[in-house]
Amino acid sequence: MTRYRVAIIGTGAIANLHIQALKEMKERVEVVAAVDVLRDRVEAYSREHAIPRFYTDAAQMLEREHPDLVHIATPPNTHYDLIIRSLESGAWVLCEKPLCTSLAEIDHILTVEQQTGTYCSSVFQWRFGSGSQHLKQLIQTEAFGRPLVGMCLTTWFRDHAYYQVPWRGKWSTEGGGPTMGHGIHAMDLFLWLLGDWEEVSAMTGTLDREIEVEDVSLAIVRFNNRALGSIVNSVLS
Ligand SMILES: NC(=O)c1ccc[n+]([C@@H]2O[C@H](COP(=O)([O-])OP(=O)(O)OC[C@H]3O[C@@H](n4cnc5c(N)ncnc54)[C@H](O)[C@@H]3O)[C@@H](O)[C@H]2O)c1
Repeated sequence: MTRYRVAIIGTGAIANLHIQALKEMKERVEVVAAVDVLRDRVEAYSREHAIPRFYTDAAQMLEREHPDLVHIATPPNTHYDLIIRSLESGAWVLCEKPLCTSLAEIDHILTVEQQTGTYCSSVFQWRFGSGSQHLKQLIQTEAFGRPLVGMCLTTWFRDHAYYQVPWRGKWSTEGGGPTMGHGIHAMDLFLWLLGDWEEVSAMTGTLDREIEVEDVSLAIVRFNNRALGSIVNSVLS
């Protein structure tokens, strides 16, 4: 069986879960390099996980290592450039959410995929849980009849300290609040289960946290199959 050469860019909090998953697939993947702009962090991460080489510059890593697959686990504002560089180097990409922060960026990622024959996927792990898989099957087999009404609630709590991490809470670095950062998982699942939506009305507010982006958003949506849905994304709940 082919063993794919994998590199991880960004060795902060979520990278600890990426490496666990990669270790569980060790027959199929070999982690050849890690990258972080913080030298001490990437050095410690590489040592802890027996990754043979580390870099502080992603471009240099891509040039020297030519990985088959790149995991991107950096803050949102860095994703787009790292995705494009990785795809152009010939690697496939698995990137943390949100994949990027504008529709123009998504369009360009699709173009580069087509030009290079590579593929970029986003981490939407909720689709793969047994509950989601079971619900998908129930919907597909119409065990509940035709879906008519759905609710998609991400009513979470993140305190003021959570937003002290420098990249959080700002348009330029996080790209949005709980809509892009937290409810994105449930909304992805909602779309995956009920299909594309054709009409959306929404409101956002920054009600309590001292941040630029919203701390709550609400939407009502009409799906292509005429079902109606209600969405709440909140870090105040
Ligand atoms: N899928 C999920 O459920 C889930 C959960 C938490 C976080 N995330 C996502 O994971 C991403 C990272 O979040 P985190 O909590 O691990 O952040 P973090 O701040 O803990 O780690 C990010 C790391 O990336 C490094 N970095 C920044 N710019 C870089 C660059 N250009 N090249 C290389 N390294 C760079 C930082 O030094 C840091 O070590 C975010 O997009 C976040 O939304 C996803």
